[in-house]
Amino acid sequence: MTQQARNDHTAACRKAYAGAPDARMKQVSDALVRHLHAFVSEVEPSREEWMAGVQFLAAVGQSPNGALEEFILLSDVLGVSMLVETINDSPHDDTTQGTVLGPFFIDNMPLAQQGADISAGRTEGAVPLAIDIAVVDRQGQPIPGAQVDIWQSAADGLYDVQRGLPEGEFELRARFRADEQGRVQCQSVMPIPYQVPTNGPVGDLLRATNRHPWRPAHVHFRIAAEGHVPLTTHLFPTGDPYLEGDAVFGVKPTLVIDLPATETGRSLTYTFVLAAL
Ligand code: BEZ
Ligand code: FE
Repeated sequence: MTQQARNDHTAACRKAYAGAPDARMKQVSDALVRHLHAFVSEVEPSREEWMAGVQFLAAVGQSPNGALEEFILLSDVLGVSMLVETINDSPHDDTTQGTVLGPFFIDNMPLAQQGADISAGRTEGAVPLAIDIAVVDRQGQPIPGAQVDIWQSAADGLYDVQRGLPEGEFELRARFRADEQGRVQCQSVMPIPYQVPTNGPVGDLLRATNRHPWRPAHVHFRIAAEGHVPLTTHLFPTGDPYLEGDAVFGVKPTLVIDLPATETGRSLTYTFVLAAL
């Protein structure tokens, strides 16, 4: 195909999508065709390579990790999830920055009591961690009743959802309501670096591109409060060897914090600042 024939073909395909009645659908489908054609035109795949690409996507949809989880992971390791986060981050410099949700979030968790131990006994080889966080607005006023989800991996690097626990059983995850001072306190364990799942097709992609699968240690937070922009983020302890080179590009310097030693372990204190809607 000459360059002119390729251009004519792309133009014809764009025209075919130009009739979408919804303006956003029209914009997105046009950009999709344009960028996809530019990608294919640059790479010039053989028919076999095209088929290998299609088979890769089909394998993502049949991953042992679950189709949705593996597609999120694919988006994560390609840096797309973090790009979406950055595009949608609060425009204010004084609010807490967001990072990737990741595949291990569970919605609609039962409410836990203030001060709860969320480790559910998963403490072997782990350093205790006292979590004490506050949720405030941009004026520094507490946001009582904010819903705070906390989740993390255990000292062996696994999340509860990777263990196949019985229905309704959770480890190292909980949902809290912030108290009158906007605070949530709970007992947990120190997170450690862990590998993103590599047993599916995304693992094949990482190996084929000589990328490591490690994420620096972190604790996840998702905070929702009426009248405020929801926040999905992590906190990363300082000193982790994978802060540079996170497999999913999720680290932001403002989210890297000291977890000072205490008599019993370490402590995590942090104030999350939410923007008003
Ligand atoms: C996580 O932090 O839970 C995570 C994020 C992206 C990919 C895999 C795991
Ligand atoms: Fe994580």
